[in-house]
Order: sequence, then structure tokens, then C-alpha cells
Amino acid sequence: MLDERTVTFINSLDPGNPPYLDELEKYALETYVPIIRKDMQSYMKFLMKAHRPKKILEVGTAIGFSALLMSEYAGNDAHITTIENYEKRIPLAKANFEKYGKSDKIELLEGDALEILPELDGVYDFIFMDAAKGQYINFLPDLFRLLAPGGILLSDNVLQDGEIIESKYAVNRRDRTIHTRMRDYLYELKHMKGLMTAILPVGDGCAVSYKEADFEEK
Ligand SMILES: C[S@@+](CC[C@H](N)C(=O)[O-])C[C@H]1O[C@@H](n2cnc3c(N)ncnc32)[C@H](O)[C@@H]1O
Repeated sequence: MLDERTVTFINSLDPGNPPYLDELEKYALETYVPIIRKDMQSYMKFLMKAHRPKKILEVGTAIGFSALLMSEYAGNDAHITTIENYEKRIPLAKANFEKYGKSDKIELLEGDALEILPELDGVYDFIFMDAAKGQYINFLPDLFRLLAPGGILLSDNVLQDGEIIESKYAVNRRDRTIHTRMRDYLYELKHMKGLMTAILPVGDGCAVSYKEADFEEK
């Protein structure tokens, strides 16, 4: 991972977000709600502007910060579907979408993504994976199916703050399953037919995967 001073320097160059996003970020940090870090925000803004997705899928809403950020930078004609299963956060996310006038642009699906994803049949040109790290590998077949050819899958927290490089025996016993599953997920992303993936030291480590534009399901 990048050292703290480098990240601070990079973040200091960012021109910042609109005040309502700053307000929500402050609230999230004060109430220990995990949201994307500054450098990840910056990368996401870049992807929204450069890729201009119209249909976005997010797994892991929390209180709606990243969904609102994507909506802000993807533009007015983007629609976001976001999934959250934690009852305490769902009403807060909904209230935020309402408060910031985005209820018609962001739809919240309530429940476990493991059950919701297989039911979805839309095609998404951008998918943001930001839920329980141990489950990414289980979500992958559906994420790939739902991703449009030419679409981008962005997966957050994949380097586990650097712990991913350690041997599994050096990792806390209770984190070993997640560690193994995340390594399997990264291997799959890098070797799956039809996907081209770069792993970057942004945020907690992220993987950005492109589904080949001429990819056809057999
Ligand atoms: C890191 S937070 C998401 C932060 C959010 N993307 C942001 O940056 O503003 C991860 C969220 O995923 C939710 N989550 C974890 N596993 C899930 C699952 N299987 N289905 C739906 N939501 C899940 C958690 O409850 C948590 O609120």
C-alpha cells in the first residue's frame, strides 16, 4: 500500500466534493460508518467522468455516500441500483437519497446481495463491489453475468490494507477464510476469460476489471 504521507499529498491536490457530500462524509466518519476513502473517491469520480455509465449497480450501500458520489459525477441520465442488508443503515440511506434530491436516480434494494443478485437481469455498465469481503468470490458469477460487454467492475478493499500479501498463517485465525477467499477472487479476476483486470493501491486496494466489448456468452 502507499504510505500515509504519499496518500495525504495525493489527497491534498483534490479540488474537493460538493458541500453536501462533505457533510455526509463527516457524519459517516463521526458515526463509524465505513465509506470509501478520499483517494478512492477521486478514482471513482474519474471513472464516472471518463466512462459515463448510464446503469450502475452497487453492492454495499451503507448510508448512501458512494451512491450519491457516483450519481453526482456520472451525470443526470445515470441510474443507480444499490443493495444493502443492514436494517439500521437502510432507512438512513433512503433518507439521504431523499434529502439530497436523488430518490428518482438511486434505487435501494433491501436484502442480502447473495439472494438479490441472482434475481437481477438488467445489464449494468458499471458495477461497484463494496460489501462483505469474504463474499466477493460468491458474487462473481452474477457480477460477470450482469456486467455489460465494455463495462467496468470496480472492487474495493481487495488488498485488505496490505494483509493480502501475508501468508495465511501470519493472518489472525478468524480472518483466514476472508484472506483465502480474497486471494481466490483476485486470481479469478485476473484469469477469467473476457475480463481484463488491474489491481491498484487505491483506498484499501481496489481491482478495476473491464469486460471485453466483444465478449459473447457461449
Ligand atoms: C463498506 S460498506 C459500503 C460503503 C459504501 N459503498 C460507501 O462507500 O458509501 C459495506 C456495506 O455492505 C453491506 N453488506 C455487506 N454484505 C452484504 C450483503 N451480502 N448484502 C448486502 N449488503 C451487504 C454492509 O452492511 C455495509 O453497510
